Amino acid sequence: MEILGIDIGFGFTKATNGKETLIFKSLFGDATDLQFWMDFGEHSLKDFFHVTIDGKSYFIGDLAEQQSTVLNFTLDQEKLISEFVKILELTVTGTFLKKDAPINVPINIVSGLPIGYFKQNHQRFNEILTGHHKVTYHKHDGSQLVKEIYINKIRMLPQPIGSILNILMDDNGKIINTDLAKQKVGVVDIGFRTTDFTIMDRLRYIDRSSRTMDTGISKAFSVISNKLREKCGVNVELYRLYRAAEAGAIKMKGHGLNFSKIRDQVYAQLAGTIANDIDRLWAEDWDIDTIILTGGGCMDLAQYLQPLIAGNVRPIMNDVDARLNNVQGYIKYAKYIWGESAPEPPAPPPPELEPIEEEAVEDALIEAQPAEDGLVEKQPLDDALVDNDTLEEIEELVEEKLPDE
Ligand SMILES: Nc1ncnc2c1ncn2[C@@H]1O[C@H](COP(=O)(O)OP(=O)(O)OP(=O)(O)O)[C@@H](O)[C@H]1O
Ligand SMILES: [Mg+2]
Repeated sequence: MEILGIDIGFGFTKATNGKETLIFKSLFGDATDLQFWMDFGEHSLKDFFHVTIDGKSYFIGDLAEQQSTVLNFTLDQEKLISEFVKILELTVTGTFLKKDAPINVPINIVSGLPIGYFKQNHQRFNEILTGHHKVTYHKHDGSQLVKEIYINKIRMLPQPIGSILNILMDDNGKIINTDLAKQKVGVVDIGFRTTDFTIMDRLRYIDRSSRTMDTGISKAFSVISNKLREKCGVNVELYRLYRAAEAGAIKMKGHGLNFSKIRDQVYAQLAGTIANDIDRLWAEDWDIDTIILTGGGCMDLAQYLQPLIAGNVRPIMNDVDARLNNVQGYIKYAKYIWGESAPEPPAPPPPELEPIEEEAVEDALIEAQPAEDGLVEKQPLDDALVDNDTLEEIEELVEEKLPDE
């Protein structure tokens, strides 16, 4: 049996088998007939995602962004599930399947959904993915590799729980952080489209304190993109802003535009909105022991968000890519339920401590099915994140030229 953790986010698809990880933009497009291929980089199968699934050929991730004529990107959960999940999950699953793996080796996958969509949609992953599939990988030299995939089981988790499990468990899926297991832990998972809030109290999922909001980083990107369009008449797609937003500058038609001030202001406002949501949602949860910030967006917002949160915020590690925290937790959980450590009985606790039962993790996660389905709370419209004074200031700044590279 093979096990995998796969996290299909609106921004990035993340996957791991516990040893290797894979991350790429959640994009796919038509596979055009390339006239010529030139690439001087070192490449493996993972860097050239041209696949055929169910008779249709696609470019995936970077290749789609660079070469497809019709590119699919979405910020819509229904579309992500109905159109993206099968293509992206099968593409990564086949990539991790070893060449010499026995035919039809069962593959068990842990994957996730935002809290607000969990209850209504978690079964759909089973329907879409379990069973036999065939993925053909086309290499740029014209050769092909066909992978026969048998997905045996899919276990779904509410996404931010992956980040708790990642801290709670070791690489074999064994609970090692017994301190955290005894605590009331709040998680804020800032992704590209969604921010998920959840609380686990002594490994028990607390539904009333868990919610999905639409305050992901794309909200800030929309404001930036709108301003760039107003100023330069160029429509910058949100998935093309990652590097520019990090640099605070973009080059358009030969002009370097500096938008670092607007970015800082928008990030600060977004962090303020998320901090208010924390205060409102967790008003009764004043006894939280630890707050974990996770998801790729926490790296961008941390400097603004951390000072606004009253509580014990676990420091963000700069040497870790926070986009991967959930999927790292998924694979640990996969080992916990299906791996070698699974049958191991829980160690008896020292007599003076209250017992933490390992089964509690399982129970808590099964209970993690929020009552309100498909609920994503909307925050004010994008432009409302920036006040008028700042907008004027931005327009001047956008005129600024960057030094020639
Ligand atoms: N190296 C990087 N490249 C691109 N984005 C990065 C990088 N490092 C951090 N980020 C941030 O990570 C964010 C994406 O985070 P993440 O992958 O957790 O989102 P997602 O899971 O795809 O979205 P969602 O949870 O809403 O479905 C980006 O918006 C960006 O702000
Ligand atoms: Mg995410």
